[in-house]
Amino acid sequence: MTAPQFRIAPLDGQLDRSGFHSGSTPLDTYFQRQVSQDIKRRVTACFVALGAEGQIAGYYTLASASINLNDLPESIGKKLPRYPSVPAVRMGRLAVDERFKGCGLGGALLSNALRRILASEIAAFALVVDAKDDTAADFYLHHGLIALPSSKLTLFMPLATAKALIS
Ligand SMILES: CC(C)(COP(=O)(O)OP(=O)(O)OC[C@H]1O[C@@H](n2cnc3c(N)ncnc32)[C@H](O)[C@@H]1OP(=O)(O)O)[C@@H](O)C(=O)NCCC(=O)NCCS
Repeated sequence: MTAPQFRIAPLDGQLDRSGFHSGSTPLDTYFQRQVSQDIKRRVTACFVALGAEGQIAGYYTLASASINLNDLPESIGKKLPRYPSVPAVRMGRLAVDERFKGCGLGGALLSNALRRILASEIAAFALVVDAKDDTAADFYLHHGLIALPSSKLTLFMPLATAKALIS
């Protein structure tokens, strides 16, 4: 999960996003037209991977979220306090530009998101992601996330698991 040739940083609104193409039109359109407004309204945060020449190679978004306790697998839910939901952080979007796919950047962005959440002083039980299709879900399964029993395109990783994997 390392891609040392990239620098990952919060999105700078001055960066030219028009050339970003991940192969997913909704993810590209969101990044080019909508993300700045969402950042301004504090409904999302966005982080980008910059290549050696400053070009945008990938991005992900994070926002606070929650998971209903009843939606978690029973084996995990039964170990948690009986609140209706547990706090989480949602990675709503993750995309890598076509030119940079297959060199470890998607995994590096996921790892960066987990480290960023673990570094926060605000508690969250898990990272949760929305996969756009089965191929994206397979990417997350490959990285150890678990699908919610009620929705195979919503996956999560307990941050205790992430901490153990990373350290
Ligand atoms: C999914 C995506 C982010 C993967 O990025 P990437 O940089 O090409 O992937 P990486 O090179 O980091 O792959 C890391 C590992 O995941 C594996 N992998 C990549 N895509 C996979 C998939 N769809 N299913 C299973 N494994 C996958 C790779 O084989 C690699 O395995 P390894 O570390 O054991 O060698 C990228 O293809 C993309 O942007 N797709 C379009 C948007 C999208 O589907 N986003 C997902 C969230 S909705």
